[in-house]
Amino acid sequence: MTKQLSVPRVPRVPRGTSDILPSEIFQWQDVEAKARRILATYHFAEIRTPIFEQTSLFKRSLGQTSDVVNKQLLELVSPDEEGFALRPEGTASVARSYIENSMDRQGGISKLFYIGAMFRGERPQKGRLRQFHQVGVEVIGANTATPYLDAEVIALNVALLQALGVKDFRLKLNTLGSPHDKENLAEMLRTSLQEDVGKLCEDCRDRFERNVFRILDCKNSACRAVVAGIKLGHGHLSAESQKYYSELKKILQTLKVEFEEVPTLVRGLDYYTHTVFEITQSSLGSQDAISAGGRYNDLVAQLGGPQVDAVGFACGIERILLALPDENKPQAAPLTVYVIALDEKVFPKAFSILQKLRANGISSDMSYKVSSMKSQMRSADKAGSRYVAIIGEEEDKKGVVALKDMTTGQQQEIKENELSDLLKG
Ligand code: HAM
Repeated sequence: MTKQLSVPRVPRVPRGTSDILPSEIFQWQDVEAKARRILATYHFAEIRTPIFEQTSLFKRSLGQTSDVVNKQLLELVSPDEEGFALRPEGTASVARSYIENSMDRQGGISKLFYIGAMFRGERPQKGRLRQFHQVGVEVIGANTATPYLDAEVIALNVALLQALGVKDFRLKLNTLGSPHDKENLAEMLRTSLQEDVGKLCEDCRDRFERNVFRILDCKNSACRAVVAGIKLGHGHLSAESQKYYSELKKILQTLKVEFEEVPTLVRGLDYYTHTVFEITQSSLGSQDAISAGGRYNDLVAQLGGPQVDAVGFACGIERILLALPDENKPQAAPLTVYVIALDEKVFPKAFSILQKLRANGISSDMSYKVSSMKSQMRSADKAGSRYVAIIGEEEDKKGVVALKDMTTGQQQEIKENELSDLLKG
């Protein structure tokens, strides 16, 4: 009997994740660098929390009935008794860290930002990944429930997207009000949906009892049709919540931040109270939210910390990059010089010139192997080099290099010891 040879399968990147390759990494670095610059001007400090946490943290903060907890938590097999899960978002971890590190006792407001990978066990599609990256901010502190901070955070989100070159985005705004107002809203929603419960999908029929807000986010076409027919106003809000929301809108208008009020915007995570917002961009298709956030004044206390107010947002970096028009896509910084040695004898000299260029902070490279001038020029071109420094026997004798400008094609002799200064200038 002939034995079947099994060919080992080549390992593949898990579905819904991807390698960020050298050819695209500069786009990421550009987003991160610009984000860091803008965040510094708004006086935010970076925080890095672990990429996994106790599963209970997410259950207690995002809500047991949220899709993120119910269907998308990627839990780890752990040697400890307590369960761990990869973080699906950053807010819960920042709130946990705020409490654990007694940041409330440091006085003032904690203005924190993070840039990092998040994980959700979603069904992957364009713009919906299992590992994705967020730039997020959280402002936490006692007595910081002022519409000025909501406005600042929203304006920061808009400024960030503008600075990155994202065009034609829409800011959707709503308020859920206080926890008591939220209860009223849930009641109003149940009343409006009462007659149409039978038309909803199975999940939404369950949501009707357990968390009626989730019905507003359902992607099922029958549910969307029912939701489109609902008339929701702001009748659930107390006078105080109304005032807060009106002030916020006024401040945004003063700041010339354009927004659209969407009374059905409730967001899929439980911790929100008062302001909620989402920024969408139509070129993204069905996963059109680039960014989202809102106020969560009770989360820290709910997790056992002090009663402090909080507001924040998170942008999806993959979606930012998808939404960028080609002309605004960042370009890789070009290599400055490619050094070419024309024969083995001058190779050591060429190599020492290369090292001197680097010591002077000039990005440079070579092919490390003497081949034809044509093939080395091809490599220089592939490396995207601005200049080529050619060293042959004659140049070596004269103590010069032949420096060719790859854009103009012009070539000139430059003294070896003047090369770095010329390129730096
Ligand atoms: P979120 O709406 O779940 O909110 O996510 C924020 C952004 O992360 C989304 O608008 C989207 O750009 C990106 N995102 C989410 N899930 C995926 C995915 N599966 N694939 C690709 N991108 C995705 C939060 O995470 C809250 N923590 C935001 C916040 C901060 N609220 C207050 N502070």
